[in-house]
Amino acid sequence: MRTAINRQMKRYASALGLVLLSATLGSCGSEKSRSLPPTAAGYGTSAPVKTTNNASYRTPALSGPMRRNPDMTLRSDFTNGPAISFSRVPVADKYIAITFDDGPNPNNTPRLLDMLRARNIKATFYVVGSNVDLYPQIVRRTVAEGHEIGSHSYTHRLLSKMSDPEIRNELNRCRDAIGRATGIQPRTLRPPYGGLLQRQREWVNAEYGYPIILWAVDPLDWKRPGPSVVCSRILSHTTAGSIILAHDLHSQTVDAMPATLDGLLQRGFKFVTVSQLLAMKGDTSTAQATAATPAP
Ligand code: NI
Repeated sequence: MRTAINRQMKRYASALGLVLLSATLGSCGSEKSRSLPPTAAGYGTSAPVKTTNNASYRTPALSGPMRRNPDMTLRSDFTNGPAISFSRVPVADKYIAITFDDGPNPNNTPRLLDMLRARNIKATFYVVGSNVDLYPQIVRRTVAEGHEIGSHSYTHRLLSKMSDPEIRNELNRCRDAIGRATGIQPRTLRPPYGGLLQRQREWVNAEYGYPIILWAVDPLDWKRPGPSVVCSRILSHTTAGSIILAHDLHSQTVDAMPATLDGLLQRGFKFVTVSQLLAMKGDTSTAQATAATPAP
């Protein structure tokens, strides 16, 4: 019992240390002591819950000019190969794709779009069709600002427990909601909770052409660990080619983004959309293309 309490106290002390360190350095710091499950298939079966805005959180002030993602002209016309599921893509340079799930959300998504625009970052949004029908104007803005939209089903239920016709209904309704709102169609699918059986992945890929997009970096932001923890988990686990999972449904996640995005840019990562990352599969010329890109 005492050991357990001691361990608990040590954990708090170490968490406090991280917070203090972050405050000192003006970034969220790193969290090397904690190891995350690599690409666990989702996080249970309960749906994410809506959270209230964290009104007390203040984004740390910038010291110096804001870092910006470089302007890049990259292909996004990926071809389907033998692999249909992706949590990362092997790339020749420090390209990454950050993804935001479960929106659009009227409070958080516009705030996030402002942060991305200020940094010239294009992200990928895995939207829930029913939310698209509620807030089509937010999805229109998302597309207009150069981001990519992917399917995250219509009702955010666990697809792996559904019949094929039920899955088809979820995917069609999400696709149609996105089409009504924006005139475009999603090109990739992230199944809610990452839950889709191999057999289902195969027929979905064959029928819709959607690669199944999972993730290499999971900050477990839906558990609301606080913005600095979300930030430090992402910074310490992101490597070249990573697909990063985050949720614009949660205010804490968006609160974490200024420090997270700035930290990733500072580490030399370049943000691309999921389709652009997929288009780099086996493309060795990306290294040269990058060398020709002027520094920000
Ligand atoms: Ni989700």
